[in-house]
Amino acid sequence: MPAIVRVVDLYKDYFMGDVTVHVLKGLNLSFDEGDFIALMGPSGSGKSTLMNILGCLDRPTAGSYYLRDDDVAQMTDDELSEVRSTYLGFIFQAYNLLPQYTVVENIELPLVYQGAILTEETKARCVALAEMVGLAERLDHRPKQLSGGQQQRVAIARALVNDPQLILADEPTGNLDSRTSDEIMMMLTELNRAGKTIIMVTHENDIAEWARRVVRLRDGQVESDVRNDARTVVALP
Ligand SMILES: Nc1ncnc2c1ncn2[C@@H]1O[C@H](COP(=O)(O)OP(=O)(O)OP(=O)(O)O)[C@@H](O)[C@H]1O
Ligand SMILES: [Mg+2]
Repeated sequence: MPAIVRVVDLYKDYFMGDVTVHVLKGLNLSFDEGDFIALMGPSGSGKSTLMNILGCLDRPTAGSYYLRDDDVAQMTDDELSEVRSTYLGFIFQAYNLLPQYTVVENIELPLVYQGAILTEETKARCVALAEMVGLAERLDHRPKQLSGGQQQRVAIARALVNDPQLILADEPTGNLDSRTSDEIMMMLTELNRAGKTIIMVTHENDIAEWARRVVRLRDGQVESDVRNDARTVVALP
């Protein structure tokens, strides 16, 4: 399997006045196309920092990030936003839906940001995605009329609207009870079976068990890297 994501000697520092916070300290990771990875580790270990870099929302201080064969560091801001809108799907803990918009309008948002013209066809596609995540009866509801699990399902549909190859989910079940979390995880598992590569941050072991591979960060470095399917520890360099 070719790597869809590869980071080499990745460092990220945050500069705050005269204080420098070293967050990522030389990460080397390669994620295969079609894999389902759980990223774990204590609070502050750098999980979201890594996700922001993988999502092309932030740039590393040093080191390389390759998306397939493309060196992300060489991309212009315009190219990065093109990658974000065509190649990546984002799911966040806080759902990040726009309250004034309906379910279908929220799903359409990435298309709007991309400058696409909304047609009957794109609308039909968004309705189909809403139906796929079980919200056929809620197409015109606003986020505040939905439960947390339903809102997260809208966010999943929104993440899929551009048919991304890579889905980045930062604690997608962090605000949900365990039954609703399982529903969301079933949905992500289905998407993975259908070929999507998923990188998901979670604090919970029972959520991480849904993934095929579990990478733990500690203090900005890889602490462990285990395949769930084989239950074998991948040797670290
Ligand atoms: N924009 C920023 N400016 C300065 N420091 C930051 C910034 N973002 C994150 N940090 C710091 O970087 C470290 C790692 O943060 P990060 O959000 O990546 O952790 P995390 O592993 O996602 O934690 P959590 O599990 O709590 O979400 C923390 O010490 C945090 O305070
Ligand atoms: Mg985080």
